[in-house]
Amino acid sequence: MRSIRPEIGVLIGICTHLGCSPLFRPEPDAEGVGVDNWPGGFFCPCHGSRFDLAGRVFNNVPAPTNLEVPPYRFESDDIIIVGEDEEAA
Ligand code: FES
Repeated sequence: MRSIRPEIGVLIGICTHLGCSPLFRPEPDAEGVGVDNWPGGFFCPCHGSRFDLAGRVFNNVPAPTNLEVPPYRFESDDIIIVGEDEEAA
């Protein structure tokens, strides 16, 4: 499981290849991401790594692992505390 609530993704926006900042390209079939049938996600233009909207890395890209999910918890319905996990509450 990569998110506490499926409709909210909390990710560290640092590419796991060499540390660039992937671009948020949520629109399907976005231009400039280097593939047909792009489902939407994050694209790192530095060396072409691609991640889906949950931050899972695509095959055959330079990034070796998924975007990292930091520890976080929901303080309330609309406040997220990043840096603490749910056991810290
Ligand atoms: S730093 Fe993102 S693909 Fe290389």
